[in-house]
Amino acid sequence: MEPIFAALLGFVCGSIPFGLLLTKAAGLGDVRDIGSGSIGATNVLRTGNKGLAAATVLLDAAKGALPVLIAPILFVQDQATAPGFWSDLGGIAAIAAVAGHCFTPWLKFKGGKGFATAAGVLLALAWPVMLVSAAIWAATLAISRISSVSSMTTVVAAPVAGFAMGYPAVIVPLIAIAVIVLIQHRANIGRLIRGEEPKVGAGK
Ligand code: G3P
Repeated sequence: MEPIFAALLGFVCGSIPFGLLLTKAAGLGDVRDIGSGSIGATNVLRTGNKGLAAATVLLDAAKGALPVLIAPILFVQDQATAPGFWSDLGGIAAIAAVAGHCFTPWLKFKGGKGFATAAGVLLALAWPVMLVSAAIWAATLAISRISSVSSMTTVVAAPVAGFAMGYPAVIVPLIAIAVIVLIQHRANIGRLIRGEEPKVGAGK
């Protein structure tokens, strides 16, 4: 039952639509009505409120990190008799948190693209891999100036970085998360092919 509990915890945490809640609370309307229609920080930034976008990144990352950290503590009673299970439960909570963000039941199973939540879960799973991934994200964003390009490049690179850096337990969760995040970027991929994807700071 422990894996199911870990998945439920991750999914429920991930399902909290912070980007939507923050923009509504700030009187900026429904963030799903502008830009890409996503509830993520990139789209919150299109409201013009950088502080809210930063808060969305932090909260969306935190709701990923938290269940990864606490699921193994809550659901493994005797860690000595469960070798390897610790990281497995964290990995399950990680995948579920990203899925909860992307397919939140509070928004008819729509939501965001999962990148900030993926960053949070990776921070909790293996922070050195997160640091390398952050460098990849920053470099690709600096070169492309397109948020979706840097997000997609980073989620594909992260499991490779995990493998190369000697973190085998993160590889399967990171591949599953990459698949979810790429699926959520299908409209972005279409816009990129058509040359219509906006650069960061291009407005609504
Ligand atoms: O991390 C989200 C980003 O990759 C794309 O966001 O709103 O431009 O589709 P958006």
